[in-house]
This record gives sequence, C-alpha cells and structure tokens, in this order.
Amino acid sequence: MAKINVNLGLCSYDIIIGENVISSLSNRLEKLHLSKYQPVVVTNEVIYKLYGNFLKKQFKSHSQLSFIKVPDSEKAKSWQVLFNVLKTIVSFDKGKNIFLVALGGGVVGDLTGFVAAIYKRGIPYIQLPTTLLAQVDSGIGGKVAVDLSWGKNLIGAFYQPKIVISEIGFLNTLPTREIRNGFSEIIKCGIIDGELFSLLEANRSSILDVSSPKMLKIIKKCAQLKAAIVEKDEFDSKDIRIALNLGHTIGHAMESAFKYAMITHGEGIALGLIAESIISNKIGILSRKNLDRIISLIVDLKCLPIVRKTIKIADIVSYLPYDKKNKFGQSRLVVPSKIGGVKIVTGLDEKIIESSIKDALEYL
Ligand SMILES: NC(=O)c1ccc[n+]([C@@H]2O[C@H](COP(=O)([O-])OP(=O)(O)OC[C@H]3O[C@@H](n4cnc5c(N)ncnc54)[C@H](O)[C@@H]3O)[C@@H](O)[C@H]2O)c1
Ligand SMILES: [Zn+2]
Repeated sequence: MAKINVNLGLCSYDIIIGENVISSLSNRLEKLHLSKYQPVVVTNEVIYKLYGNFLKKQFKSHSQLSFIKVPDSEKAKSWQVLFNVLKTIVSFDKGKNIFLVALGGGVVGDLTGFVAAIYKRGIPYIQLPTTLLAQVDSGIGGKVAVDLSWGKNLIGAFYQPKIVISEIGFLNTLPTREIRNGFSEIIKCGIIDGELFSLLEANRSSILDVSSPKMLKIIKKCAQLKAAIVEKDEFDSKDIRIALNLGHTIGHAMESAFKYAMITHGEGIALGLIAESIISNKIGILSRKNLDRIISLIVDLKCLPIVRKTIKIADIVSYLPYDKKNKFGQSRLVVPSKIGGVKIVTGLDEKIIESSIKDALEYL
C-alpha cells in the first residue's frame, strides 16, 4: 500500500494506492467527516455491473447509497449529460448533505468532479479511479471538465477531491487496450522523470501485466510526480503544470480529428508524444538517441492508435492552435528536451509541425 499526500493547504488530500485498499473506504470517510453525508455514486453501466454490488458493501456506515449511471465513453463529458446528472442530484438532495463518488475512469472522474465543483457552488467528492489512466493521472490534481462541440474540456474548473483511492484490484477487469491507454500517460510521466522511463524500458516485456508487483511502484511514481507538480502549480499558471501537457497538444487534435471515436485518449497522446518528440529533434533540442528511445518504448508497448483509417494531416492540423484559421495568440508547445526533462517552445514553424505529424503517422 502507498499513501501520498497532495499538500494544498486546506484543500490537501491523500492518494491511497494498493490491493484491497477499497476496504478501508468507510473508515477513511469517517475521518473525513463524510459519514453523515449521503453518498451519490456516479458511474456507468459497465463499471456498475462489475463493481456496483461490491461497492455497496464498502459503504458500511451509510444506510442510503444512490447511483447515477452515465453513458460509457467520452460521450458522458457532454453538456447534456452534465445537465441530466445535475437534475438527478437535485431529486436526491432533499435537504440532506450529499457528496459525490466518482467510480470510473477519467471520463466519469472529470464529469463528477465538475458536477461537484458547480452544484451549490461546490460539494465534496471523492475519486475511486477504476482505469489505469485515471489512477496515474486524471484522478489526481482536480482538473475537472466537460467537452463542448468546439473542443475538449472547454468548460471546467480546478476542484480537488477529498481523497483518491486507487484500488489496483479494479485493473484486473480492464481490457488490454485500456491498459495501453494508461501506459501512454505513464510514458509521458517517464519522459518528465527519467528514472521512471528507465524502469519502463528495462521491463518492457512484462510491464503491461497489472498483477505484477511493479504495477504499484509505477502507479505510485506517477501519482508522486503529479502530486509534486500540482502542489507547485495547482492552477496551471506558473509554467510548471504545463509539463503534464506533453503529448497533449497534438494528441487532443488527433482525438478531435477522430471525433473522440475509434481512438482512446491514450492512443491520441501516444501519437502526440511521438510527433512532439520529432519536433523537438528537428529543432535541435532532443537528441536522435533519446527520440529513438521514446519512439521505441511507445511502439513496443503498442500504445499507438489501432485504427488504420487514413487520417489527413490537414484534419489534425485544423484542430491545432497553430493553424492559421485559429487565433489563440502566441502558440506554445511542451516538448521533451531529454529523458527526464521538458521545454516550452514558442513560435514554431507550421511546416515543422506538419512534417513531424506526418512522420509520426508513419508509425501507425
Ligand atoms: N483531469 C485530468 O487531469 C485528466 C488527465 C488525463 C485524462 N483525462 C481525461 O480522462 C478521459 C479518459 O479517461 P479513461 O482513459 O480512463 O477513459 P474512460 O473513462 O472512458 O474509461 C475507459 C473504458 O474503460 C471502462 N472501464 C473503466 N474501468 C473499468 C474496469 N475496472 N474494468 C473494465 N472496464 C472499465 C469504461 O467503461 C470505458 O469504456 C478523457 O476524457 C481525458 O480527457 C483527464
Ligand atoms: Zn491525458
């Protein structure tokens, strides 16, 4: 078991990671003074079928437990689903104090956190991440949001959970594609923290096995890295948290080009990591040797999109803030500077970006 504290003054909280840590849920809620509050669990049908009854047993001191099921996949991070969830919460909230429980991956976590942030100007919520991606990344740090048709995460907030309980046992039912999805964010963390990258490289043949004892170490390392970055730059205003955006500028454009269907978030990020590393190499920052190490790890762990549909570079570029049609002010991109470091670059030549995306697509 590992316990990491995210030190944010009055908004500090713990991240608990391990096998069977969910059994401590009731005690932990008591310590957080949430025993008298009524829990409302937000989840989806897939996760409910797998863990709904199991979770009911964990809320030992709560006589009443309500569930709200949202659609599976990115579709749930929509204005309409947000409105429906709020409407249901109003019907549950008959003068009682309620708190929200996000039981699911990054989609459920981002949506639930945003609902918690805006309902009655903020109610408590906890994160019970059930995907690897959510345990290593999205469940931590309080960036919560839903999408608009014009782009991803366009309405959101910074709103921290009361606790994050990352039950490793949940990962046993996760499809391999979703494990790989999580590994894209883990590789991103590895590029920021070189020691983690070397650990992944050295164990590349067995690292996808969620039952391996190394899994706790990896999730813990990512959570520590994210917690440390969030502590220094909670509101993403000091050019520190931006490091976690590595791979995401091109990755998000890739997700948008695929209309959030056919590829997972992590698959978009894997392509983004390769393209942004190629850019870094082309402009003389990242060495060829380190570029090859990054590409080789991503390719070996099969994190790239599995769709072979031809995607036009122009489609991806149209979703980038660099595109001539968009006016987002001065464009900035985080790129790897080495294994264990990133750099923010500005004023990039569009031709370099386009040719790097083209080169990255060759790996599909
Ligand atoms: N807030 C942040 O800081 C942050 C960081 C990274 C990503 N994100 C967001 O996270 C989202 C992606 O999250 P995700 O990759 O977890 O996807 P997801 O939430 O869609 O979950 C992936 C799939 O796995 C299923 N699933 C979840 N847990 C399961 C389990 N234990 N067993 C079997 N199936 C399970 C889900 O039903 C879903 O079909 C994106 O919207 C992305 O923008 C947010
Ligand atoms: Zn991400």
